[in-house]
Amino acid sequence: MNLVTAIEWAEGHHRRGLYSPIGVAFHWVMAGLMVVQLGYGWYLGWQPVGGDKYIGYQTHTEIGLTIMLLGTLRFLWRSQIGTPDTVDEASLSGRASHLMELWFYFSFFALPISGWVMWSTLPNDLPLSIAGVIPFPNLPFDQLSEALQHRLMQGAAKAHVWIVWITALAIPGHAGAAVLHYLVKRDRVLPSMLDLNGPQAPGVVGSAPGTGSAGGPART
Ligand code: HEM
Ligand code: HEM
Repeated sequence: MNLVTAIEWAEGHHRRGLYSPIGVAFHWVMAGLMVVQLGYGWYLGWQPVGGDKYIGYQTHTEIGLTIMLLGTLRFLWRSQIGTPDTVDEASLSGRASHLMELWFYFSFFALPISGWVMWSTLPNDLPLSIAGVIPFPNLPFDQLSEALQHRLMQGAAKAHVWIVWITALAIPGHAGAAVLHYLVKRDRVLPSMLDLNGPQAPGVVGSAPGTGSAGGPART
């Protein structure tokens, strides 16, 4: 599948009020990783200092760098393909959801980068990698003075924890808004990401024969 075919394929889903299966996969895989990462980060914070804690944080860095890679691919995908029109973008809820999504994209990069700065100032020899597979370098901070390394560590830790908290509070707001759209407004916001009512709605991908788009289901 080349880029033009991929764009047409995804836009076919968007016209029917659905994210494409690639958009849906990006969303749920990254949502799962973010929730695991938040919980695991806090769990490690409560553990006593020692070797196990460092090894735990190494896993934390591997998941975090995977989020940054997936976030980059997702950003490129979304910038080429766009999203379905599920809400009026000029409305208050449209602007609020846009702001929330912008924040999440920011967190996919700002959390790994602040974590990377912290890790690079710590005196440990554990290597960094993306998903434990693709080696990733430390920043060359060992050439800096101890005082500067200390300041970098403190600044990055403060940024990491602030972004963690704002993201952790934004997630229930975002999920709750999606559920409210479903229960109160009864629009396509939640089904666009879950395909809940997709097969029943005329013209929707996967709909029953006779109700779906001409030429049958477009899902490939
Ligand atoms: C992208 C998603 C990430 C999320 C959601 C996340 C989340 C967290 C959380 C919840 C904590 C505990 C904060 C606390 O104790 O209050 C934490 C700590 C930490 N994270 Fe991350 N993190 C991410 C990425 C990374 C990456 C990529 C690295 C390193 C390359 C990293 C390095 C660290 C370190 C070193 C700490 C310990 C900070 C301290 O104890 O002061 N994180 N993270
Ligand atoms: C149970 C939890 C969740 C539910 C029910 C949910 C639901 C949704 C829905 C329905 C949309 C489509 C909104 C629209 O286009 O109008 C969406 C988009 C989005 N969600 Fe979630 N979400 C959840 C968790 C998360 C988490 C944990 C994150 C990341 C921290 C996240 C990040 C995003 C982003 C960035 C978008 C924009 C779509 C894109 O760029 O592909 N979501 N979500």
